[in-house]
Amino acid sequence: MGTQPSQSPTPAGGQQAWSQRFESALHPAIAQFNASIGFDIELLDCDLTGSIAHAQMLAKVGILSEDECDRIVAGLETIRQEYQQGKFNPGIDEEDVHFAVEHRLIELVGDGGKKLHTARSRNDQVGTDMRLYLRGQIEQIRQRLKAFQQALVDIAEQNVETLIPGYTHMQRAQPLSLAHHLLAYFEMTQRDWERLGDVLKRVNLSPLGCGALAGTTFPIDRHYSAELLGFDDIYHNSLDGVSDRDFAIEFAGAASLIMVHLSRLSEEIIFWASEEFRFVTLGDTCSTGSSIMPQKKNPDVPELVRGKTGRVFGHLQGLLVMMKGLPLAYNKDLQEDKEAIFDTVATVSGCLEAMTILLQEGITFRPERLNQAVAEDFSNATDVADYLAAKGVPFREAYNLVGKVVKTSLAAGKLLKDLSLAEWQSLHPAFEADIYEAIAPAQVVSARNSAGGTGFEQVRIALNRAQSLLKPDA
Ligand code: ARG
Repeated sequence: MGTQPSQSPTPAGGQQAWSQRFESALHPAIAQFNASIGFDIELLDCDLTGSIAHAQMLAKVGILSEDECDRIVAGLETIRQEYQQGKFNPGIDEEDVHFAVEHRLIELVGDGGKKLHTARSRNDQVGTDMRLYLRGQIEQIRQRLKAFQQALVDIAEQNVETLIPGYTHMQRAQPLSLAHHLLAYFEMTQRDWERLGDVLKRVNLSPLGCGALAGTTFPIDRHYSAELLGFDDIYHNSLDGVSDRDFAIEFAGAASLIMVHLSRLSEEIIFWASEEFRFVTLGDTCSTGSSIMPQKKNPDVPELVRGKTGRVFGHLQGLLVMMKGLPLAYNKDLQEDKEAIFDTVATVSGCLEAMTILLQEGITFRPERLNQAVAEDFSNATDVADYLAAKGVPFREAYNLVGKVVKTSLAAGKLLKDLSLAEWQSLHPAFEADIYEAIAPAQVVSARNSAGGTGFEQVRIALNRAQSLLKPDA
């Protein structure tokens, strides 16, 4: 069937892609400026899939014969294969992926190919492609979120009773279960996963058949093409259908929140790996050295994730600004959605994959160092106040008293555990020998058994919840 694919075929009918209305070809620099083929080739697979459904719909309503439809579908599948084999490489004079496909189809199947664009415009076509593309990518990102969560849970399972200092204002606050700390990221990414599922509802609508802006004179069946493409519904207003990019902005917003979460964890890993903290060691497969300082092992993965977060936020901002002044309906400004969305997808997917590998094999927590860290501070001070409050001393009074104890201990170079019982009792008669147990770090953590707290019992409940949410049918 057809001819050899040309590297950059002259568009059918002459030097330019559009109607005979034009007398001269585009200025070469403007052609370059105008063209999206350099990046929208990413949509090729979706464009072919969308066109196949459009052809089948045209056949169903009698606009194409079954034979014409079969030839078009076969031609489109040939282009898919040619692309996979590296034989379909449209050049700049094709303008965009849609023209490139149409021209190659006409080369392959002849005049029958010219009927494919009946009752369709590139405006509803590109909108369809973007939604098909994003639908597939969102599914993949959701899978990557699950793999990341699994890696978190695998570490958490081993570290329910490993302690880690908890901070507020970046000051030691109260000790925590390490699993509890990691499961906070599980919860954030669970919301990310759910949020993407919600975005999907608005991505999965069909603009196909909205035409250039006003619908079409042909008796098309938009519900049929939508159904063939697995869309949940159609756009109910043709102007909205061709010019809506809310779904892309929502996706960029959801992607930005994923990056916020990855970036916060990255920041923690970076300082945990520093000499000042030494809470983790980084493995050789995920860190790099310095070209000049031989002792160094750099946390490149979390640094890059933290750094890449900015570009994803930038894409969200770019899309919002692109849309804010657009009159209805399609405007060429909308071509700018492509690179923003493609780069957002690639960045978020890449960061999730890298962070998952980092958790799986690139980071080792140091329980001895972590347990020791929580034994050397005043992060059990709240527990002394709670101890007194439980014995009937009003909390605010207890709080003030413990403030004084911390002050005198600091001055004496002592920790709370180093005070003698006589010293405790001189501070308040309610102190008894069980104060030592009450302020031991493991007890301090274990006692925070309120729902969602860091007490080991609660952490086991949270871990069960996480494990069940990770089951394939959850
Ligand atoms: N390349 C264009 C885009 O990405 C396709 C739609 C062009 N439509 C038009 N009326 N010029 O938006």
